[in-house]
Amino acid sequence: MKFPFIQNIYSEEETISIAKTFSTILQKGDCVSLIGNLGAGKTFFVKYLCKEFLIDDANSPTFAILNVYLGKEKFFHFDFYRVRSKQELLDIGLYDYLNDEEAVTIIEWADLFQAVLPKKRYEITIILNEDFSRTFTIEKL
Ligand SMILES: Nc1ncnc2c1ncn2[C@@H]1O[C@H](COP(=O)(O)OP(=O)(O)OP(=O)(O)O)[C@@H](O)[C@H]1O
Ligand SMILES: [Mg+2]
Repeated sequence: MKFPFIQNIYSEEETISIAKTFSTILQKGDCVSLIGNLGAGKTFFVKYLCKEFLIDDANSPTFAILNVYLGKEKFFHFDFYRVRSKQELLDIGLYDYLNDEEAVTIIEWADLFQAVLPKKRYEITIILNEDFSRTFTIEKL
């Protein structure tokens, strides 16, 4: 997988295939920011990414802000959608999670609090097009 990776996709199977490929380059300590509208497929992508690490219960942490999974690797799965302030993120110790070099941190709706994101990260943008195809972009920042 070369970056930036850009692909138009037309099925869930194609999203699953991107998740599988991306899983092979992901390493402990990495951060992945996910950007895309409601229903774009952020959680869907995370679910299948986590499956590659033998995690079967990955789901939207919308109400919890953070889910922790332990499989072949440890994952912190954030969703910023209902976060009201940067302070709220600091209070739950966001930076401690981001600085954990033993875990992968994945953040849905990352664009809502850009300022807290590490400069070095993978950024995945999913655009839902009018014809219901999706444009997937993965950048290595
Ligand atoms: N190619 C595709 N990739 C991902 N999801 C798809 C695709 N085609 C259809 N879907 C469907 O779109 C929905 C995406 O929902 P998902 O919860 O992943 O979105 P989300 O971006 O996390 O939204 P939210 O912002 O509400 O958290 C799922 O129901 C999934 O089955
Ligand atoms: Mg989601």
